[in-house]
Amino acid sequence: MTLRLVVLGSAAGGGFPQWNCRCPVCALAWDGDTRVKPRTQSSIAVETGKGRWTLFNASPDLRSQILANRQIQPTGLRETPIGAVVLTNGDVDHVDGLITLRERSPLTVYATSQISAVLDANPIFGVLAKDVVAREVVELEKPFEIDDTRIEFFGVPGKVPLYLETENLKIGDTSGDTIGVTMEKDGARLVYIPGCAVVNDDVRARVEGADILLFDGTVFHDDEMEKAGVGQKTGRRMGHVPISGDGGSLDAFKGVKIGRKIYIHINNTNRILIDGSRERATVEAAGWEVSEDGLEVAADLAHTSRGSTAA
Ligand code: MLT
Ligand code: MN
Ligand code: ZN
Repeated sequence: MTLRLVVLGSAAGGGFPQWNCRCPVCALAWDGDTRVKPRTQSSIAVETGKGRWTLFNASPDLRSQILANRQIQPTGLRETPIGAVVLTNGDVDHVDGLITLRERSPLTVYATSQISAVLDANPIFGVLAKDVVAREVVELEKPFEIDDTRIEFFGVPGKVPLYLETENLKIGDTSGDTIGVTMEKDGARLVYIPGCAVVNDDVRARVEGADILLFDGTVFHDDEMEKAGVGQKTGRRMGHVPISGDGGSLDAFKGVKIGRKIYIHINNTNRILIDGSRERATVEAAGWEVSEDGLEVAADLAHTSRGSTAA
């Protein structure tokens, strides 16, 4: 037995390429340049029990992700291997796919009280009938089990979802609007942090010794959106620590013992998406991998294979 995961969607909100964007990186994708691979929005699936899969975030692209990954396709008449969904924040790219999961299959949705309240405040999520879709409100740092896997939520510096921002926005709050998740099974430990505004000592302590880290790779340069002419916000302002620069994730995880370090939730402006780019070479030289859709990772063998698509 191993801890096995598949990256369903490796892009940040908007996906890659984004529907309305011809920034220099999106333009490569629209033009079919083979140095880039299109990517769907942020989600992974973990085999939490034998043949039982848990989604970590439910992306707007969930239906196409199910079409592309046989592990999570139906196994019988109204039977699905997907038994649970864990949410790491309330952003559109992480909750919209819940609506795809209507149709009366038993499921449990696990979330902090903050994220759960976001779902309750939006009546469209009532489409998940309460008699079949359970909601578990989970406290930070209180481990629980999904199938055979021990799960723990921990707060990471972040913020409320974009659509709930007010003038009093606090970036860096760790009370449960944005979380990281630790998963342990068969002696292997995986840490998933798709959004994180600051890598501080707490975050470093959480990932120390992990077999696999999947971490926020939204932007390479904090100011790359502005430089690309697509917006004014910095990565940090969006709740995403940049990869490069002082306090960037390359810098901040230096010296932390981690088996495999993999960037995920990658924005379409980020040049690590381009094979052969200086930015890709920089992260790889520092021991990081750049995830792509369909990437399978197993913790015991450090075994990787790409392209898990069904025929
Ligand atoms: C983010 O990660 O910053 C969000 O997905 C932004 C969004 O909702 O587009
Ligand atoms: Mn996002
Ligand atoms: Zn773009």
